Amino acid sequence: MTGPVPELDARADACAERIAGSEAVLLASHIDADGLTSAGIAASALERAGIPCEATFAKQLDGEELERIAATDFETVLFTDFGSGQLDLIADHEERGAFTPVICDHHQPAEAETQFHCNPLLEGLNGASELSGAGTTYLLARALGGEGNTDLAALAVVGAVGDMQSSDGELVGANRAIVEEGVEAGVLEAGTDLALYGTQTRPLPKLLEYTSDVGIPGISDDANGTLRFLNDLELELREDGEWRCWADLMDEEKRTVVNALVRRAVASGVPSERIDGLVGTTYTLAREEPGTELRDASEFSTLLNATARYERADVGLAVCLGDREGALDAARDLLGNHRRNLSEGLRLVKEAGVTGEENLQWFDVGDRIPETIVGIVAGMALGSEGVSPEKPIVAFAEKDDEHAKVSARGTHVLVRRGLDLSAVLGTAAHAVDGDGGGHDVAAGATVPKAGKEEFIAHADRLVAEQLG
Ligand code: C5P
Ligand code: C5P
Ligand code: C5P
Ligand code: ZN
Repeated sequence: MTGPVPELDARADACAERIAGSEAVLLASHIDADGLTSAGIAASALERAGIPCEATFAKQLDGEELERIAATDFETVLFTDFGSGQLDLIADHEERGAFTPVICDHHQPAEAETQFHCNPLLEGLNGASELSGAGTTYLLARALGGEGNTDLAALAVVGAVGDMQSSDGELVGANRAIVEEGVEAGVLEAGTDLALYGTQTRPLPKLLEYTSDVGIPGISDDANGTLRFLNDLELELREDGEWRCWADLMDEEKRTVVNALVRRAVASGVPSERIDGLVGTTYTLAREEPGTELRDASEFSTLLNATARYERADVGLAVCLGDREGALDAARDLLGNHRRNLSEGLRLVKEAGVTGEENLQWFDVGDRIPETIVGIVAGMALGSEGVSPEKPIVAFAEKDDEHAKVSARGTHVLVRRGLDLSAVLGTAAHAVDGDGGGHDVAAGATVPKAGKEEFIAHADRLVAEQLG
């Protein structure tokens, strides 16, 4: 890639060379949208290069998972979207000769060295906003297959969007260079559009009703109000009398709706930065069928989360690899379930409320929300009604009998003021005999249940120091 950081390309080249010289590769990846798209990119690139590979997925790369991987016959293991944070453990296996690791990741690296390691953080790029796991894996694919692999930029963008790297309105940094390659390859379109979730598949009333984070009186969370608002605009319905989706509207109709939305928001005193958030850069997968979840990067990423976070990474990977029949149907079923869990989770958090500490806020859902999606719920809750966007949010869910899963989410505004949740969760978790890490704006941890209170006290102090 003719990217801004030649050192990172050099790392990708070294990784590609090791991969190209391998007889077979075990591909190990993370169970979320970014991890699945990373695996999809890697598996495609390997197949095109004629290198057999097998894929395995994990919630987390811990000692046990690494033992399992070390016990296989593979001499080369390609870790995508995780691995850097566990570099110390991986390096131990490497030293014992269990396998040669190749790592394409964007998480905070642990203190250790390895030869084949591609990570934006090693070259001064931000791993939470400039390059995702899928983007880093894309660099490897480009190094392996050159121009012939630039169609994989579409999956890289789905991964970046799935990791919320566009949450400030658009993709930036190295991500943007990948978007440009995807546009060039004819697989992506980037344009300014309504920045709401569901423009391809949600009928208009549902789309507008779910604008809770913008909070437009008489529209957000108000089904009847939304219908009145839309009826006044006199848009044509579909032939069967149902509402169309946003993507079906003509440009002029879109302008009509956006103008009316903005007018309503301004008239009701919605703060201007939230109104600005209504419109943003959206990423369309040009080769996918219009009106499907696959057409929009944000909807595609949610579809993938709906598979892998429910132990069906096989389904998500098949969709990434182009299965538009059985796997897509299965993914859609899983999506229905995922959406119910998200909305039930949000309802729970709103009902029970969050506990405010001086510098952060937290909630504990026990076993009522799966630990694999509690972070998504926390992110959706942050900034919604009753939850302040001024403090990071920390969520606990049950991991097993003895352990709690922690997920923390912040905002870009807080990060600019010094917040680094990766450091907060890592340090606070270690203090109670747990383990954690991630990114400045989003991080996670596992802690003993008995240590939750002490963990919060530590984290509260650490956030104070960072924002002080
Ligand atoms: O492993 P990890 O990179 O997957 O996870 C990234 C997570 O961080 C995503 O689940 C995403 O929801 C979250 N995130 C966020 N807000 C951001 C950036 C990331 O909630 N601005
Ligand atoms: O599931 P994922 O983290 O990819 O979701 C990304 C964003 O999409 C969420 O933070 C949320 O704002 C939105 N979303 C939604 N309704 C859903 C799923 C996701 O509004 N059913
Ligand atoms: O699980 P959750 O979505 O909250 O994870 C947020 C971020 O924290 C992810 O990037 C994840 O990989 C990271 N994480 C971590 N160590 C953990 C749990 C999560 O580095 N024990
Ligand atoms: Zn990731």
